[in-house]
Amino acid sequence: METKWWHNAVVYQIYPRSFADANGDGTGDLAGIIGKLDYLQTLGINVIWLSPVFRSPMDDNGYDISDYCDIAPEFGTLAEMEMLIAEAARRDIRILMDLVVNHTSDEHPWFIEARKSRDNPYRDYYIWRAPRTDGSAPDEQRSNFGGSAWEFDATTGEYYFHLFSKRQPDLNWANPQVQQEVHRMMNWWLDKGIGGFRMDVIDLIGKDVDRGITSNGPRLHPLLQEMNAATFGARDVLTVGETWSATPEIAKLYSEPARRELSMVFQFEHITLTWDPQDGKWTPRAFDLREFKGVIGKWQKVLADIGWNSLFWNNHDLPRAVSKYGDPGRYRIESAKMLATALHFLKGTPYIYQGEEIGMTNVRFESVEDYQDAESLGLYRERIAAGVSHEAMMEGIYANSRGNARTPMHWDASEHAGFSHGKPWMKINPNYREINVAAALDDPGSIFHHYRTLIRLRKEYPVIVYGDYRPLLDAHPQVFAYERQLGDQRIVVINNFSGQLVELELPADLRDLAGESLVSNYGPRNVLGQHLTLQPYESFAIALDTQTT
Ligand code: NOJ
Repeated sequence: METKWWHNAVVYQIYPRSFADANGDGTGDLAGIIGKLDYLQTLGINVIWLSPVFRSPMDDNGYDISDYCDIAPEFGTLAEMEMLIAEAARRDIRILMDLVVNHTSDEHPWFIEARKSRDNPYRDYYIWRAPRTDGSAPDEQRSNFGGSAWEFDATTGEYYFHLFSKRQPDLNWANPQVQQEVHRMMNWWLDKGIGGFRMDVIDLIGKDVDRGITSNGPRLHPLLQEMNAATFGARDVLTVGETWSATPEIAKLYSEPARRELSMVFQFEHITLTWDPQDGKWTPRAFDLREFKGVIGKWQKVLADIGWNSLFWNNHDLPRAVSKYGDPGRYRIESAKMLATALHFLKGTPYIYQGEEIGMTNVRFESVEDYQDAESLGLYRERIAAGVSHEAMMEGIYANSRGNARTPMHWDASEHAGFSHGKPWMKINPNYREINVAAALDDPGSIFHHYRTLIRLRKEYPVIVYGDYRPLLDAHPQVFAYERQLGDQRIVVINNFSGQLVELELPADLRDLAGESLVSNYGPRNVLGQHLTLQPYESFAIALDTQTT
């Protein structure tokens, strides 16, 4: 495998609205991010994925872009963006921009033109269809944010297609002009020295709406190959596609270097395991570790030699990891460290979502409005109208709303958690006095310092980056254990995913091995006896001493 700089990188995702507010208007901004670069350098990450900062009416918090080549005034200016790229580079940190090109905002000049008349030169930048004879929408396709995927436009008497809110019309990727415009814009950003792109719902751009195909459409991979050739292919950047529909085999198509598409994709199979198969995220189902191990093991195996995995527990669309997979109460610290260890020793590129490194948790607001999220609100209305009870819907929101991850970052115990001098755009999680960066930096035993260690180990041990993955104790319902091996380097990682003591009999090939304790969340461990007693959420990694193996 040809080595790449991003193979041992760790990426940190910033949701700019909620990260750090320098000017006191209550909304996070670029100056705020620049002010926290030293903190990120201390953590040790070397890439930032910046959720969208482009000019936008903020119907979907910036995932609705009205100008790809300018910055939203609430976030700052283009000059500040250039300063952020330069200041990050001085600290050896590269910036990934969020490429949101499945759709634009309805305030993008292309759409403003397109809706003027049927023969407008921009008309074909979007997807328009005539009503059915009774005036209704062309078909039954649904938007991800609730309601029909078609919106009637009275001026021209046709419907336009939108897979997200009606203020996010889908671009028509069958139009070569759309392709060229996007390529031009990408090169404009690449010329500014960015480190690559995270590509929003990129598996939707090859859609064929007339056949009801949205993800994995026939034109998807050719479009990505053309994009690669016209833009980043000749540059040494990281590209990661958001692909809810990817299977491991499909992920290989995206990330096999010879196919010249992307560096890697985000897959969500491990995430949707806790969703109801029919009803989706609003009807959560319990986490089953055996299922989870099966999914992770499959992805590790299929992408072992060809392609590359991305590794993550959460992002701005998902609940907080410690609330979902750990224990946000009594064992918050232990379980957050355990989750970090379990993920960071896998093969792939780890992503940390802001606040994960201090163990931020989900939040229980009384009202759905407080979650400030187009998706939660849209689906709440739709489902309540369909007869779901308020209580049932709120339980779904507490478990899985995107708003959980979007409460402002906790910097310290002062008013507004040190996030802003003004009134924050979204309510702060009340637990900020206990859970905050200042406290974490001061405490050598904090979750933050645990992440720091994991990031450093990835840089020091090639076996973490390139080693083979071997699952251990496969059938165990509470323990996720695996081994990584590269030449004579071997690391064994053991994680108790439960709040109970676990008594383990180790299989013959693991018994009585010893080595160096790399990381742990109780005391250090450097021997594997015959019998192990694991504390609640205990987790550790040992670099085996090759003499004993
Ligand atoms: C995925 C993004 O991560 C999400 O936040 C957004 O709402 C949709 N794509 C639409 O852009």
